[in-house]
Amino acid sequence: MARTVLITGGSSGIGLAAAKRFVSDGDRVVITGRHEDRVRSAADESGAEGIVCDGTDPGQVARLAESIGDELDVLVNSAGGLPEFTASAQSQLETTLAEWNAALSKNLLTAVLTTTAVRDRLLASPDGTVISLGAIGADHGAGSYGAAKAALAAWNVVLSSLLGPKGVTSNVIAAGFVDDTNLFHGRMTDRRREGLVEETHDKRPGAVDDIAATIHFLASPGARHITGQTIHVNGGAHTTR
Ligand SMILES: NC(=O)c1ccc[n+]([C@@H]2O[C@H](COP(=O)([O-])OP(=O)(O)OC[C@H]3O[C@@H](n4cnc5c(N)ncnc54)[C@H](OP(=O)(O)O)[C@@H]3O)[C@@H](O)[C@H]2O)c1
Repeated sequence: MARTVLITGGSSGIGLAAAKRFVSDGDRVVITGRHEDRVRSAADESGAEGIVCDGTDPGQVARLAESIGDELDVLVNSAGGLPEFTASAQSQLETTLAEWNAALSKNLLTAVLTTTAVRDRLLASPDGTVISLGAIGADHGAGSYGAAKAALAAWNVVLSSLLGPKGVTSNVIAAGFVDDTNLFHGRMTDRRREGLVEETHDKRPGAVDDIAATIHFLASPGARHITGQTIHVNGGAHTTR
């Protein structure tokens, strides 16, 4: 039966790849992003419905939830990325505050606000699931971005414990370096890319479809006993032993 799938940050990269995968199953897929042109073009490309929504804005997130309908089966919190902020001419502390607020807003609060807004709709589904995009940076000391992704993984454990008894699973996918996304805003150098590939065991970058396949699996019947976990998808660049 067709499911309803909401993918925040579905206008590019990993979220867009996941959207295509669910659309090909015949699911109703809603994608979001902050820029209308990108949302519209991703919706045209994938066959998903596009809604412009800044996940850090409670009013926009509330309107997004209302547009979903009464039931939501799959929530993918993919909105996130490196912090966007303006350096203060006044003081280094002001700049530090701006960076950390931006990192936490973009990577943690987008997921917390959206999940809170659609919680009752997920509970209405017979097999609801929340899948949030974490990052290898949570374990590899990536400053404000990594700290925000570590907080996301910590929050997921509590979320799982609250939703689990009501039949909803919740997991984080901690992705390693993934090619062909807008995450690095075109600033990835060849040297840095080679270094990241060298850290893997399989000597290749991640592809958006690697992560989309894991998202798809976590939303499948075979994953119903997996909850409260952080699943690492990184070619061996970070291992849990
Ligand atoms: N690529 C990697 O190497 C990598 C590695 C580990 C984890 N991740 C994580 O994977 C997720 C997807 O990133 P990606 O690699 O696919 O990068 P991407 O291509 O830049 O996709 C990020 C998406 O999030 C949206 N977005 C950003 N801020 C938002 C906000 N406040 N509200 C709503 N949407 C917002 C972007 O659209 P707009 O900018 O138009 O809003 C875009 O659709 C992120 O959480 C990222 O941290 C990526």
